[in-house]
Amino acid sequence: MKNFISIADVTNLDHLIQQALRYKKNPFEDKLLGQGKKIGLLFLNPSLRTRFSTQVAALNLGLEPLVFNVDKEGWALEFEEDAIMSGNSVEHIKDAAPVLGKYFDILCIRTFPSLKNREDDYSELYISQFVKYAGIPVVSLESATLHPLQSLTDILTITECLHSTPEIKKPKIVLTWAPHVKPLPQCVANSFAQWINAWGKAEFVITHPEDYDLDQRFTKGAHILHNQDAALKNADFVYVKNWSTYQDYGKMYTNDPEWMLSNEQLKLTNNAKVMHCLPVRRNVELSDEVLDGPQSIVTTQAGNRVWAAQSVLSEILKS
Ligand code: CP
Repeated sequence: MKNFISIADVTNLDHLIQQALRYKKNPFEDKLLGQGKKIGLLFLNPSLRTRFSTQVAALNLGLEPLVFNVDKEGWALEFEEDAIMSGNSVEHIKDAAPVLGKYFDILCIRTFPSLKNREDDYSELYISQFVKYAGIPVVSLESATLHPLQSLTDILTITECLHSTPEIKKPKIVLTWAPHVKPLPQCVANSFAQWINAWGKAEFVITHPEDYDLDQRFTKGAHILHNQDAALKNADFVYVKNWSTYQDYGKMYTNDPEWMLSNEQLKLTNNAKVMHCLPVRRNVELSDEVLDGPQSIVTTQAGNRVWAAQSVLSEILKS
């Protein structure tokens, strides 16, 4: 694996999952793989799970991680080709990325979308400029439209749960929209849909209010319903996430609390496990009763971020 930006970079998803599960059992199995090598983690946006899980994963492989909060501590970067840099940006990515390529063996980047211009965000300008100019493998820690390390973790977590429920041959997985107080990126939902479709081992349903359709490039193959209760029937996994509108880009048409998953609704499911990538706004996106209830696996899911990241870094180091 050269870079890890989306599912397109993965040649064998099952291998990546099985390797992650092996690392969970034996974190230091490949503790010498990254010896003498350094990994740079650049954050243009906040993070808790991605930041720490990737560092722990790197350390388990013997890699030395160095973290840099570009948004707070770095020079303001310019990403536009042919830019006349007379404004606020101080350094072009063309100059900064090759320098980082000299310091590190792997470079990891987190960026978010502006949610102002769909074409700009969906062009993935930031991450693609790092790939173009760094000259070393680049790992997405979440980009403008995708969150691949989260999605690998999600499938890993589902696989792990299925080991203890062998009677479920083909799980029904429901991705449900949830209310929020502000417009959020579509990254997690896009990426989850992309990976579940590529995995191909589930009945996949997406439910959201009308006008919240995601980009069909990611959801093609999923059954889409606007009736949340109908979608939840016999679900084995319910993935809860808010996203802003894609068509009329970056808007929030509703935060209808009726869409917040309840314990009553969970009775419609096949004792479904409840997932969320976190951070979660309690009693807005998900209620205390569900998050603190026996069907929530959000902490296990977040814990698994380490093993997903370790599996990806391992693949890059081996290649
Ligand atoms: N799920 C996730 O990416 O969490 P952080 O934003 O805290 O990294």
